[in-house]
Amino acid sequence: MLKVYIGRKGPGPLGTVSFAELEQKAREARKDYIGSFLYAFGSAGTNSTCRDNLRAFDHFKIIPRMLVNATTRNLETTIFGVKYSAPIFIAPIGVQGICHADAELASARAAAKLGIPFIMSTASTRAIEEVAEASGNGSPRWYQLYWPRTDDVTLSLLSRAKANGFSALVVTLDTMTIGWRPHDLETSYMPFMHGVGIQVGVSDPVFMARYNEQPTAEHPAFPYDPAKIDQAYAADDPKAKFGVKFGIEWLKECNSGQFRTWEDVAFLRKNWEGPLILKGIQAVADAELAIDAGVDGFIVSNHGGRQVEGAIPSLFALENIMKSAKVREAQKAGKLTILFDSGIRTGSDIVKAMALGAQAVLLGRPWLYGLMIAGQEGVEQVIQHTLADLDVTLGLSGYKSLDDIHGKADEALVKVS
Ligand code: FNR
Repeated sequence: MLKVYIGRKGPGPLGTVSFAELEQKAREARKDYIGSFLYAFGSAGTNSTCRDNLRAFDHFKIIPRMLVNATTRNLETTIFGVKYSAPIFIAPIGVQGICHADAELASARAAAKLGIPFIMSTASTRAIEEVAEASGNGSPRWYQLYWPRTDDVTLSLLSRAKANGFSALVVTLDTMTIGWRPHDLETSYMPFMHGVGIQVGVSDPVFMARYNEQPTAEHPAFPYDPAKIDQAYAADDPKAKFGVKFGIEWLKECNSGQFRTWEDVAFLRKNWEGPLILKGIQAVADAELAIDAGVDGFIVSNHGGRQVEGAIPSLFALENIMKSAKVREAQKAGKLTILFDSGIRTGSDIVKAMALGAQAVLLGRPWLYGLMIAGQEGVEQVIQHTLADLDVTLGLSGYKSLDDIHGKADEALVKVS
């Protein structure tokens, strides 16, 4: 524990350990392209779900135990038979090119350096192959699918993910179309419309064959300044034209408004051999349907409040879902892995989510703000802070390992109104 304080050499690249200040600094870092900050910061409607995600954690209080020998603590977590050094995953976040020029390469490298699994988004500004290379041999990585409306493109993405060492497939269910996001409507900043987040698409041979184009790993719309892209587009710049055209086509392919149903899950189950995880589960009934669909796990998530204004805070959804005997039994039997995101900011948030039944959590906006402020180093610092905070909080609460706290909400937490 003392290491955290004694080993500290100044404020580091971020200059803060507080999430509120991180958000402020990210806003400042992107002030010339404020639409890009607002895209990350903003959520659906009045942002209420995003705020409620954070407030939900205030309703659960940890009851610390004393005189437990927690001198040595163990944050190791085993998910799908793989042992990870901590219960933290890098949440899939698209369009990272709007945050920093190194985009997904920076976050993938930071995760790999610290041994934290990286989940790559279908809306990335780098191709699958480039992210895999940045992540490096043997580094844990999963692929997140925005489910294409056509099976041939879906199969092509799955085969590229597999060939590039992405061991598990995360299928995001809550973004069949993009939510009502006033910030982006007000700034007219919707990355795809500016040709951002298309690299997985334009590097895909099956997708590009439809347009009689060769796949390319180019980044046609760099730098991601919407005003400059608009100007270039108006001046008939071929790169801007290409970016905008394929931005719209990729959006129509992956978040087209064509909704999938539970019957469709069988197709993915049949065509993906590794762990299959559904992201965006919020209802108890859906958690139970996921078990029936034969998936290996799900992520309780409301996409950081970006999709349904007024949706149930993610932590309350987790609490409800864990009341289902069917879910608890499947998890206990090792047939179902339950992960959590939407609102994780501190070590104590992780302790609470794990006590309620999550086996690991996904970290989202905190590292994204780190990326905006200081690129790879910024992402690393956010992860390190979160790990240290978790380690200290766990020990001071009287637990030596995550197994000691997992699913122990009855003893470890009290709910307050
Ligand atoms: C996201 N998220 C997301 N999820 C996903 O499955 N694919 C994606 O491409 C994206 N893209 C994305 C962009 C931005 C800017 C944000 C903030 C979020 C959702 C993400 O994986 C995660 O669910 C949320 O970030 C969790 O909420 P908090 O903790 O960041 O508030």
